Amino acid sequence: MNSFILLSLFAAVIAGKSPRLKFVVHEPSRFHFTKPENYISMYHQEGSDTLYVGGQAMIYVLTFTDRGVRDLQIPAASDQTAIDTCKAKAAPLELECDNFITVIQKVNDTFIVCGTNAGSPRCWMLVNDTVLTDVQGSGQIASASDISPPYPSQRSISLPADGSLYSAMSSVGGHAGSIRRTFGSQKLLKTENIWLLNPQFAGAAIIPSSQKFKEEIYFFFSEFNKTARVDEEPYRARIGRICTVDEGGIKALLADSWTTFMKARVMCGAGNTQQQYNNMKQAVVLTAQDKRAGVMYGLFSNAWGRTVICAYSIEDIDQAFSTSKLKGYSSPFIGSRPGMCVRKNSTAGGQNDIKNLGVIRYHPEIEDVIRPVGVAPLDLPTDDQITHTVADIVLAVNDEHYSVLYLGTEQGKVLKVLHTSEGVFIISQYSLFHNEGPVLNMAIDSQKGHLYVGTAMEVQRLPLADCSRYGDTCRECILSRDPYCGWDRARRKCIAIPPGYNVTSGALIQNLDHSNSSVCGEAAALKQRRTSPREVVVQSNTSIFLPCPVRSFHATYRWEKDNCIKNYPCLFSGDFCVLGPIIDTPLKEGVFRCMATEDGFKVEVISFRLVNDGRLLAASLASTLGPSLLLAVATLWLH
Ligand SMILES: *[C@@H]1O[C@H](CO)[C@@H](O)[C@H](O)[C@H]1NC(C)=O
Ligand SMILES: *[C@@H]1O[C@H](CO)[C@@H](O)[C@H](O)[C@H]1NC(C)=O
Ligand SMILES: *[C@@H]1O[C@H](CO)[C@@H](O)[C@H](O)[C@H]1NC(C)=O
Ligand SMILES: *[C@@H]1O[C@H](CO)[C@@H](O)[C@H](O)[C@H]1NC(C)=O
Ligand SMILES: *[C@@H]1O[C@H](CO)[C@@H](O)[C@H](O)[C@H]1NC(C)=O
Ligand SMILES: *[C@@H]1O[C@H](CO)[C@@H](O)[C@H](O)[C@H]1NC(C)=O
Ligand SMILES: *[C@@H]1O[C@H](CO)[C@@H](O)[C@H](O)[C@H]1NC(C)=O
Repeated sequence: MNSFILLSLFAAVIAGKSPRLKFVVHEPSRFHFTKPENYISMYHQEGSDTLYVGGQAMIYVLTFTDRGVRDLQIPAASDQTAIDTCKAKAAPLELECDNFITVIQKVNDTFIVCGTNAGSPRCWMLVNDTVLTDVQGSGQIASASDISPPYPSQRSISLPADGSLYSAMSSVGGHAGSIRRTFGSQKLLKTENIWLLNPQFAGAAIIPSSQKFKEEIYFFFSEFNKTARVDEEPYRARIGRICTVDEGGIKALLADSWTTFMKARVMCGAGNTQQQYNNMKQAVVLTAQDKRAGVMYGLFSNAWGRTVICAYSIEDIDQAFSTSKLKGYSSPFIGSRPGMCVRKNSTAGGQNDIKNLGVIRYHPEIEDVIRPVGVAPLDLPTDDQITHTVADIVLAVNDEHYSVLYLGTEQGKVLKVLHTSEGVFIISQYSLFHNEGPVLNMAIDSQKGHLYVGTAMEVQRLPLADCSRYGDTCRECILSRDPYCGWDRARRKCIAIPPGYNVTSGALIQNLDHSNSSVCGEAAALKQRRTSPREVVVQSNTSIFLPCPVRSFHATYRWEKDNCIKNYPCLFSGDFCVLGPIIDTPLKEGVFRCMATEDGFKVEVISFRLVNDGRLLAASLASTLGPSLLLAVATLWLH
């Protein structure tokens, strides 16, 4: 019995790149689905408290407050005939024969909602937040099957930009997959089938520019070569791009197709090694307002399902698309470079423009390969399978921008990660859910400072700036390395950087680039800090286990006896560093102090004074109650 406890204590060893802090949160802002929603789409407008969630034959309009969630449910059933036809075909799974809402997007002021409608997709307009009506109005709309997939397991991406809707449809069955403009007043355009090889889409983003006509949209996807040999990698990660000013080609060439489509290969892996992650599952882009600078984060997996994140510079990608050679095309370009964003011009249609259309039609792929910054995937914990990611850009008190990634995992946890030029720092891990299902979707609101996280059972909202969790000392606040939080000297509190904070006159303290709390000037105080020992009366022949709560998983914990004559290592038991009766540990009398060392400083966390009362405890009682009783009592004290 006792040896079993010891074994499990030894098993939990602390890893270096683990989250520094672990929080279990039970925010009141959570919504439970009445039935599991295995596919969820989300729409959230920055600055609002409302989240639209598309589920199975249902749209949930969720309004979050600090006290709870108000919900409005709008039924969106499929036609019975569509369901019957679908079930007769039983394709690909009978379970998918319903109306799964795959797209909720706002284009200008029009709410477009599309669903799978049991294999024959349909779109509606959501009016007054309550009623679904047929799509009507000034804009033109493509066929619903170009916007929503027929089955929810097939990924589609939709992105509104300048009053138009852009849709990317993954390939499945007989559908080749496409990137289209599907709604709005601009001309509806599409990709040529030969440009994409069984694409599986992972994301899309607007790449802004100070000159409006140079605005582009990047699409992220993986191509799948069905005829690849077993020893060959079938996936290739890709970025495709188009210009939003694109109005298509001429009657004879690319009439209804993009004239600015180009694609590039994206690598994610260490240098030129064999260990590459080729299947891009999801991608997000952070750009500064109106600037063609920023970072793209891609979530990749390999053949064994291991997930990693690679980061790319938008400038690098931009540079490649505007300077690289085109695959299979070696002649010099005449006039302007093919595929570049140009203003609509009355003189267009000249010989050179037609020649350029031909170049794009047959050679849309560039030769340059896009490689990650830092040449390798981000150094994240390997035991967490990442299912979804969102990112935020935060202006810190040193007037620099910092990237923060939120990674949802297969176990329903969320990791908050700081990414700097030096690498990654895992600020914390949140355990949010009653049921540990995978995180299916997330939405971020930088303006209001909220993160929405959805699993098949629940949707929850978290604050991005959660500064009070870090404790009430300057050191704890600084060591958190959370760019949303700073130490307020005057009020002696760890607080969120207020909106409109003046970086020149403000006095908040932060230190994001390294873990260094020397700015706090608390070194002398830390050395002297003592806790008052809690007294424990020991029966002479019982086994004693002393618990010390682990707060920072980046600190080293040790026990010291009396005046630090000897150090004792701890046995780990989850969130406690436990001192137990192993060789050479005289757990009988004296003061035992648990010391945590981080950032070069040793801090006393807790201490116990063991007093031997000389009596002997009956074997039966000690062996059944002894260690577990003491651990349990100590746990109570600590709360
Ligand atoms: C939406 O609300 C407006 C104003 O309350 C009303 O006139 C209109 O009929 C509503 N539309 C629908 C489709 O219910
Ligand atoms: C969106 O708004 C712009 C400008 O207000 C307008 O030109 C365009 O036609 C609108 N698009 C749709 C689809 O209504
Ligand atoms: C797919 O793989 C096969 C086998 O290696 C190869 O011959 C073919 O060219 C590949 N297709 C593409 C489009 O790369
Ligand atoms: C567009 O027209 C302007 C003058 O109207 C001319 O200066 C410019 O070179 C033209 N651009 C292209 C790409 O033809
Ligand atoms: C910030 O504070 C400085 C110094 O007090 C002042 O000159 C500047 O105008 C302030 N900036 C803003 C944006 O308020
Ligand atoms: C922390 O910063 C101070 C001053 O900037 C420096 O002297 C010290 O060496 C740093 N400590 C660590 C552990 O990097
Ligand atoms: C403690 O000592 C007593 C008396 O020698 C003995 O009966 C009992 O079994 C011992 N308990 C343990 C846990 O060893």
